[in-house]
Amino acid sequence: MTAFVPPVRQDNPYLPFGDHRNAPFYGKDILSVRQFSRQDLDYIFGVAHEMREMVQRVGTFDLLKGKILANLFYEPSTRTSSSFTSAMERLGGSVIPINEVRYSSVSKGESLPDTVRTLECYADVIVLRHPEVGASALAAKYAKKPIINAGDGVGEHPTQALLDLFTILEELGQVDGLTVTMLGDLKYGRTVHSLARLLALFRVKVNYVSPDILRMPPEIIAELKELGLPQDEYLTLDDVLPTTDVLYVTRVQKERFEDPQAYESVKNAFIITTETMRRARERMIVMHPLPRVGEIAMEVDEDPRAAYFRQMEYGLYVRMALLAMVLGKA
Ligand code: ASP
Ligand code: CP
Repeated sequence: MTAFVPPVRQDNPYLPFGDHRNAPFYGKDILSVRQFSRQDLDYIFGVAHEMREMVQRVGTFDLLKGKILANLFYEPSTRTSSSFTSAMERLGGSVIPINEVRYSSVSKGESLPDTVRTLECYADVIVLRHPEVGASALAAKYAKKPIINAGDGVGEHPTQALLDLFTILEELGQVDGLTVTMLGDLKYGRTVHSLARLLALFRVKVNYVSPDILRMPPEIIAELKELGLPQDEYLTLDDVLPTTDVLYVTRVQKERFEDPQAYESVKNAFIITTETMRRARERMIVMHPLPRVGEIAMEVDEDPRAAYFRQMEYGLYVRMALLAMVLGKA
């Protein structure tokens, strides 16, 4: 007698979570926000939304059971590293954590291409943070498994920009028509480089407010001008605060400065306080990728417009969605 063999489950577009190996992101790297269209964003945020509901309803479920993530961090991280870990574990998968490459064979001189080719023998996807621009692209050149860029020096932080945009959507209901003001270190801050590029897909106005030595790199401004994004630069917040819908505050990236005195001269350039919030719109949000080191006073945390802690939580759902997508399960 032939044993009963259950039918192989086919892709079912009506199931949000299943085997979707023809899905657009299956097996893909996530290296830069430049790879996304608006349609991609709708898809990612749709899945992230489902993830949020599932986490709130059941907490953990086995969509990625048996899958392994290698978390490879050459730079410090709290949120990105632990939210990817949590995302993988909430989906039933597991994690190889290399959060301190000092204790790995990197300290013996092993190259990035060799390190990722090692990890992909043991893992299905690699999340990489590295101090050099283009490190994720280099890793992706050598790895056969998907590489997710978790920050490449002053380059990009694409998963942060996705969670930032998801935050704006969840908090304000739409992106089109908004005025987004980016404040602080726009030169070295990789999160604003990615976010500005992503916002260029929408009908928004972007203001850049920074000390002169920390202005948004001119090549990014030129790139986004080509795409028709309205952008203006300012040295103070005063003029743009009353019309701002999203105030995106950033940390001055001390670790990127060659001259410590230059850092000292700008480290306290902008501090958001309750007084600042009095001059802001009633319906607006304050965001920050975090960590903060004084650029938003703690007293602001009580203000319902302070969205930065909620923003971190949205990061979990977006990263769950990304992992499920690149592993062909969403
Ligand atoms: N955590 C973010 C990053 O790694 C922002 C920051 O560190 O200021 O880019
Ligand atoms: N926002 C962010 O990337 O935080 P971590 O540096 O703590 O990962």
